[in-house]
Amino acid sequence: MSDNPLAEATVERVAPPAVLVVFGASGDLTSRKLMPAVENLALRRLLPPGFSVVGVARTEMNDTEFCEHVQAAVQKVGGGGDEARHVWDSFASGGFRYVAGDYGDPETFKKLKDVLDELDEQRGTAQNRLIYLATPPDTFPIVVQGLARCGLNRPANENAFVRIVIEKPFGRDGRSAEKLDAIVHEAFEERQVYRIDHYLGKETVQNVLALRFANAIFEPIWNRRYVNHVQITVAESLGVGYRGGFYEKAGALRDIVQNHVMQVLALTLMEPPATFDAGGIRDEKVKALRAVDIMSPEEVAQNVVRAQYRSGWVQGSEVHGYRDEEGVDPHSQTETYVAMRLKVDNWRWAGVPIYVRTGKYLPKRVTEVAMEFNRVPHLPFAMSQAEGLEPDALVLRIQPDEGITLRFGAKVPGQAFRVRSVSMDFFYGAAFLEETPEAYERLLLDALLGDPTLFIRSDEVAQAWRIVDPVLEAFEEGDLPLARYEAGTWGPPESDALLDRDGRRWRKP
Ligand code: BG6
Repeated sequence: MSDNPLAEATVERVAPPAVLVVFGASGDLTSRKLMPAVENLALRRLLPPGFSVVGVARTEMNDTEFCEHVQAAVQKVGGGGDEARHVWDSFASGGFRYVAGDYGDPETFKKLKDVLDELDEQRGTAQNRLIYLATPPDTFPIVVQGLARCGLNRPANENAFVRIVIEKPFGRDGRSAEKLDAIVHEAFEERQVYRIDHYLGKETVQNVLALRFANAIFEPIWNRRYVNHVQITVAESLGVGYRGGFYEKAGALRDIVQNHVMQVLALTLMEPPATFDAGGIRDEKVKALRAVDIMSPEEVAQNVVRAQYRSGWVQGSEVHGYRDEEGVDPHSQTETYVAMRLKVDNWRWAGVPIYVRTGKYLPKRVTEVAMEFNRVPHLPFAMSQAEGLEPDALVLRIQPDEGITLRFGAKVPGQAFRVRSVSMDFFYGAAFLEETPEAYERLLLDALLGDPTLFIRSDEVAQAWRIVDPVLEAFEEGDLPLARYEAGTWGPPESDALLDRDGRRWRKP
């Protein structure tokens, strides 16, 4: 085996014998993301014989009911078909266990320990455990402490592993993230902790690294000399749906900016790592985040826009305003849209504004990173010849239509000499015919294999909060007005004004 985990990704990697313990087993994330990922890994034969799942949750269920519940849930999201029958038959014969109990009750953890011991004996799971916290964030400390009290935080011997995967959000702000970290580190060593951000499991997010560091032509222009500004967009065409209760306490800044946007930003701005391993990549990401300027309250007022959707029309359907969503306060001040202008204080990016935006109920679901380049120093054509010429741009489309677009100027065919912008497109799906694994599939397998490269280290979380905290404070103090936008539009006029002031415009993806 080489020391290079990303290089290994091209080789089929089979997980070692292990048990996946899922806290929050009756919840939505387990049904919609984790279990479909387990089914797919099993179908791709990437799980070892004897691989088992133990669900832990408060809902009363027995092993059979749990297995049936999960199978039905997986079917709802398009899995569980005939080709998966053998997978579920095998899980049903002792590989799917369930522990009902309260997370605050030591009995729950004792029961879990007994089940794990049984599985080691019956299914050869070799005392290897991957523990997944798919529970609401306020339960993380209780579960971590419960595990430690029962000795479930430490491997039974030097050949076995115990790893814990912790879902986002990691903390509600910098201070609470630090507290949570201290609690986690009392029970687990950092190398056992896998903080998940599913964006890092997306193939095209990883492709940012491939594009930048596997090619000689992009890196030389990836800096302030050539890049005029960067736009990072995470747009969603859905509203908050049935998650109103959760979203009220989160808002777009905590739900998307602190994690997904900051991760994409770090990969876009980081220096080339010396090695492509977990340490090399995460060190550079932290350095990039550390270079992002922290805003003063006055700067927040100038550089941040927050907004909430009103009713409107999205993709042909009429939709409610946020305040009419289930579980949402009719006077809610929670933002469903954020736009920010960030400044990066390092040699590579000094003076290049980084604009980021995210929102619910925008016209389209699209995540992209767009680098817009400086114009040529001297245009040797008359203005009238270059009316349709926009600045060159390189757009990394993370989803959907995964791929890359390069916009540049070309001569319009004909007798006259006119230039306008054209696009050259690369589509992932057309270039590679193999199916791309879902983000959770990739990340679960990495965690089982002990590869933390695509997970977030403690200092990365802290740096991301450092950027977001002053903005959060301004939101919470009511220092920044909450704008409103019609669902199905690209956000409030204030957001356009943010770029307008710099003589720029948001892209309309
Ligand atoms: C989750 C957020 O982390 O990411 C959701 O909690 C959001 O609010 C989702 O909808 C977006 O993920 P994706 O993979 O659909 O872009």
